[in-house]
Formats: sequence, structure tokens, C-alpha cells
Amino acid sequence: MWVYLLTAVFLLAISWFIRDRQKISNVKDKYVFITGCDTGFGNLLAKRLDTQGFRVLAGCLTQKGVDTLQRSNSSILKAILLDVTDCSSIQKAVDWVQAEVGEKGLWGLVNNAGRAIPIGPTEWMKMEDYYTVLNVNLIGLMAVTLTFLPLVKKAKGRIANVSSVMGRISFAGGGYCLSKCGVESFSDSLRRDMHHFGVRVCIIEPGFFKTAVTNLESIEKSLQQLWDRLSPEVRECYGQKYFEKYVKVQRFSMNVLCDSDLSKVTNCMEHALTARHPRTRYAAGWDAKLFWIPLSYMPTFLSDVMLTLLLPKPSQSVR
Ligand SMILES: NC(=O)c1ccc[n+]([C@@H]2O[C@H](COP(=O)([O-])OP(=O)(O)OC[C@H]3O[C@@H](n4cnc5c(N)ncnc54)[C@H](OP(=O)(O)O)[C@@H]3O)[C@@H](O)[C@H]2O)c1
Repeated sequence: MWVYLLTAVFLLAISWFIRDRQKISNVKDKYVFITGCDTGFGNLLAKRLDTQGFRVLAGCLTQKGVDTLQRSNSSILKAILLDVTDCSSIQKAVDWVQAEVGEKGLWGLVNNAGRAIPIGPTEWMKMEDYYTVLNVNLIGLMAVTLTFLPLVKKAKGRIANVSSVMGRISFAGGGYCLSKCGVESFSDSLRRDMHHFGVRVCIIEPGFFKTAVTNLESIEKSLQQLWDRLSPEVRECYGQKYFEKYVKVQRFSMNVLCDSDLSKVTNCMEHALTARHPRTRYAAGWDAKLFWIPLSYMPTFLSDVMLTLLLPKPSQSVR
């Protein structure tokens, strides 16, 4: 009985392994549009797909990003200015992509653009702090997806949405975790709806990586600004020590947890675009696989205990 069971598990694992490694052909015919290519994962993915022969169309927030990317890659890679919070900028980008891809349609859309700050305790936030992040990470991603969808449907292509482990479990207040949770939900509905049309939707869930999003200096500066603008009553509830320890936790997370090997994330994006059978979710990084994702499956009281232990206690805490 056990021998049969073990053999069945072994055969299943082998067939999954073989299926997972099957690749699509003719990448040289295929167009991929990526948002947020100035720096980080988007920038690296654009370069890597370019060397593999894909026809890369890159969206950058700045002119410097456009110029640097075009200068340092093959003449096939093309870049355009794109601010995902601006409808007219998205429309310009889609018109440009439409003209580039013609009747072929768009094989890949990688929704990568994002920002993280301000993050911090929820009571320290104002509504505009939420809008700042949600407008890029969630509303921007949705607007880009809906505008580009006809082109992706034409190619029966792929959409890879960059979420985060913070879309599975919320570690800090502010718009970031909220936005990534929204990306998960939007992508889940989109995947089921698009399945009928041959479009595959994948979710990329990186752990902590060393990029501009996790830049400690910007995070500390933003936390200081949040702290300085609090009313004296709220500041007293938390206390100066709370603020200092909160900053220390961020320092620990960014210095110890952050992985500098960005290819762990771009490998997942590449698999989503090049595998014959792409996966629904990709967890990238050891912290995602071994800590954050398992933590997200635990009962809430357990994950609450673990995350509360990591964060400091306000001076006027009643517990
Ligand atoms: N690094 C991590 O630990 C981590 C973990 C999980 C998920 N992620 C996600 O991964 C994605 C890429 O981030 P990254 O880590 O590679 O950081 P990054 O280097 O800051 O990349 C984000 C890119 O998005 C661009 N961007 C910001 N606002 C934009 C807008 N309104 N329109 C278009 N582009 C905009 C940024 O441009 P500028 O550089 O000009 O501002 C930057 O090029 C993000 O969605 C992020 O949330 C990152």
C-alpha cells in the first residue's frame, strides 16, 4: 500500500517537474510591455528579455529611465514615458504599443510599477497617504490592465501582476499592503474571466529585496515626517521610544531580510512569460517561501502574536 502511494507521489512530482519546464517557442516574434522599468525588477527584466530575443517595450516614469534603457540595450528594445496614475499617459502608451505590435497583439504585459512609502502605524496615516500608494500600485495597475487587455487577448498572451508577500499578510499600516491585497484580488477575478479567452494571469509575490522600494533612507525619512506631523496627544500615546524602536525594526527588516539577488524575482517573471504552463502564483525569495507565505496560512491569533512580537509597544499600551 505504502509502496504504491509513494510511487504515485513520485510519478506526480516528476510529471509536474517536466510540465513546469516546457517552454514556448518563437520568442523573437513576441512583444512584452513592462511598466516601471527605470530601476529594480522592471529594469532587470527588460534587459534580460532583450538578451533572450523578445521584442521588449518598456514603460519608464522618467526621461532619464527611457534614455538609459534604450542606450544600454539592443536596438530592438524600445522605451516610452509612462505614469500609471495618468490616464492620458496610459492612452499614449497603448497607442504606441498598438502601432508597434500591429496584428500580432501583445504577448506579455508585466504590471511592475510600484511604490511603498508612506508605511507606518495606521493611526499615523492621512487619506492622501493611502491615495499616493493605491493610485500607483492598484488603481494604476487596473487602469493599465484594462487599457491593454484587447491587445493581450489578440495574442492569447500573459499578464504578470507584481504583488508582494504583503498582499498575503499585512505587516504594516499605510497603502502598501492594502494595495497588494487588492492586486491579488483583482488578478484572481481577472484570471478566471480571461481563462475562456486563452489569456493566462500570473501573480508574482516577492519577499524583501534590495531596491528603491526598500531603500532605508527613504523609509526613515518618511517615518520621521509622519511622526513630526502627529498631534502632541497622539505622539504622547506612542512615546519617543516607540518611534525609535519602530525605525529599528525597519532597519532590521531592510538590512537583514533584503536579498540583493533580484534575478530570483525576474526568473519568476520570465517563467510566467516563457513557460508553456505558467503557474498562478510565484513566491520569490527565501523569506517569502519559508516565513511570510507559511505565516499567511496560520490561524490569525498565531500570526498576530508573531507580528506583534516583532513590533514595539506604545508607551500608553493597556496590555
Ligand atoms: N523590493 C521589494 O522588496 C519588493 C517586494 C515585493 C514587491 N515589490 C514590488 O515590485 C515592484 C517593483 O519594485 P522594485 O522593488 O523593483 O522597486 P523600484 O526600483 O522602485 O521599481 C519601481 C518602479 O516603478 C516606477 N514607478 C513609480 N511610480 C510610478 C508611476 N506612477 N508610473 C510608472 N512607474 C512608476 C519607479 O520609477 P522611479 O524609480 O522613477 O520612481 C520604479 O522604476 C513594485 O510593484 C513593488 O511593490 C518589491
